[in-house]
Amino acid sequence: MAKQVSVPEILGRKGGRKISMLTAYDFALACLVDRSGVDMVLVGDSLAMVGLGHKDSLGVGMEAMILLTGAVARAVERALVVGDMPFMSYQASSELAVLNAGRFLAEGGARAVKIEGGARVLPRIKAILAADIPVMGHIGLTPQSLARLGGFKVQGKTADAAKVLVEEAQILAEAGCFSIVLEAMPPHVAETITRAVPVPTIGIGAGPSCDGQVLVTQDILGLFERFTPKFVKRYAEIGHDIAAALSAFKAEVEDGSFPGEEHTYAMDDKELEKLKP
Ligand code: KIV
Repeated sequence: MAKQVSVPEILGRKGGRKISMLTAYDFALACLVDRSGVDMVLVGDSLAMVGLGHKDSLGVGMEAMILLTGAVARAVERALVVGDMPFMSYQASSELAVLNAGRFLAEGGARAVKIEGGARVLPRIKAILAADIPVMGHIGLTPQSLARLGGFKVQGKTADAAKVLVEEAQILAEAGCFSIVLEAMPPHVAETITRAVPVPTIGIGAGPSCDGQVLVTQDILGLFERFTPKFVKRYAEIGHDIAAALSAFKAEVEDGSFPGEEHTYAMDDKELEKLKP
């Protein structure tokens, strides 16, 4: 059994070897993601878009997140599994936040949770940390704030907005977050934040200076074609291979070449004889 990546280990990587994180929402893909050797697997609420076909990440709730976090945690032997707290699982009260964060660990098998937002969610983060649940912060483009932000927009593009992001990151680090996701901001802003906080920053669309990087697995494999942000790099076009395999199956069913003898079960000749009319 591989040695599991721990929260203190991630904290200790600040400024050192870069940290890698990928998403997973199901057992089969999570096995492959873990085998790649990435440090963390995020069961992201991007599941709402990538796995469930919603137009944003607001459409997934606690039950689906817990169910699929369980599937991922059963697959992952090495990486640190982080559960993403979905929209409305923590906003209403700190009590609700603690109970839902606890479910990610107790029922889902995650070992940390991620929460979107800075100063506004500080009381929730403090309450969860007080329950001994490690928290990963997430600032910049926070997709759950889509209504307030007015769309998927790059953040921190003015000096004032950038300063607010630096302050938010410092607040999260001081509160005790073990790492902070920086999403969709100019590289210079992410670099300033990375220098300003003592915990690892994990970038997504935030340039190369962060302590680590995260991407959505389906995006980098070419498995999700509806919307591809600028920051995504395609490492494979698995979607094309899958489409070709599915068409080949259909064609072989229709022309009778599938199933072949090797895909069928043998029967004893004597038994077969008895069947004959
Ligand atoms: O939901 C998600 O997948 C995320 C990452 C992309 C950071 O929040």
